[in-house]
Amino acid sequence: MQIVRNDTNAFYDGIADYYHLFFRDWQATMQREGSALRRTFRDQNIRTILDASAGTGTQAIALAQLDYEVTAADPSFNMLMKAREYAQSADVADTIAFVRAGFLELPYALVGPYDAVVTKGNALPHLLSDAEITQALCNFYNLLRPGGMVVIGMRDYDFLLEDRPRFVPRHVHTDDPNQDYILFDVWDWDDGPPVTVTFNTFIVNGKGDNYSVTKHPVMYRALRREELERMLTEVGFVGLKAETQLWELVITARKP
Ligand SMILES: C[S@@+](CC[C@H](N)C(=O)[O-])C[C@H]1O[C@@H](n2cnc3c(N)ncnc32)[C@H](O)[C@@H]1O
Repeated sequence: MQIVRNDTNAFYDGIADYYHLFFRDWQATMQREGSALRRTFRDQNIRTILDASAGTGTQAIALAQLDYEVTAADPSFNMLMKAREYAQSADVADTIAFVRAGFLELPYALVGPYDAVVTKGNALPHLLSDAEITQALCNFYNLLRPGGMVVIGMRDYDFLLEDRPRFVPRHVHTDDPNQDYILFDVWDWDDGPPVTVTFNTFIVNGKGDNYSVTKHPVMYRALRREELERMLTEVGFVGLKAETQLWELVITARKP
């Protein structure tokens, strides 16, 4: 198996200013993410949370607004800067600890223990090899207290692998009177092993008859649910549960 180190920072640093456009309404998504996580954490005695792929704060800010104690980690400098800016607007910047680190750097950056580790938004499949994914899961495990919970959200690759879509529309934003934004993807599948898919996101921007376009590629492992569940179990997690939330397959598990 050929191991490719997947550097995603060029992609995320490049799109950080546009990341909210990847959602129909990012603020509404943020509130929904907070409510869904609060439901997941109910009766689990969760207070301290590590968001291990915080991005611009979609989950971290919502959780801080709900009075959880949040650490927001991410390897992309620009995504973290945006998260801090949005957290300031939401008046929670001082309550969130921002840390620049990827999944594999967590042991060098943080001590824990946390009551929960969250990685939502299809971030874990940026790691391409079994060895890297297992290492990331080990890092989550070691940062959790006994009884702590991991929450992993990713695309439902089992479903996507059935017909390997190539053209994937995202959103049209016309609320700004001076410029429209139209986002869509062209996905390039590669048989590997491991099977990967590169999302080429096209951001079309302009008004009237004048539009310009930029292309932003980033790669994912087409990680099957059964593969992730096997790795979680090998690392020592128990009580695995899976649920579909909109486009995301959300898997939760507990450290015994
Ligand atoms: C699609 S964004 C999701 C952000 C946020 N959780 C959300 O749902 O909006 C994916 C994030 O994963 C981060 N990421 C990429 N590779 C990573 C890695 N190896 N470890 C941790 N995070 C990573 C990116 O920098 C990016 O901010």
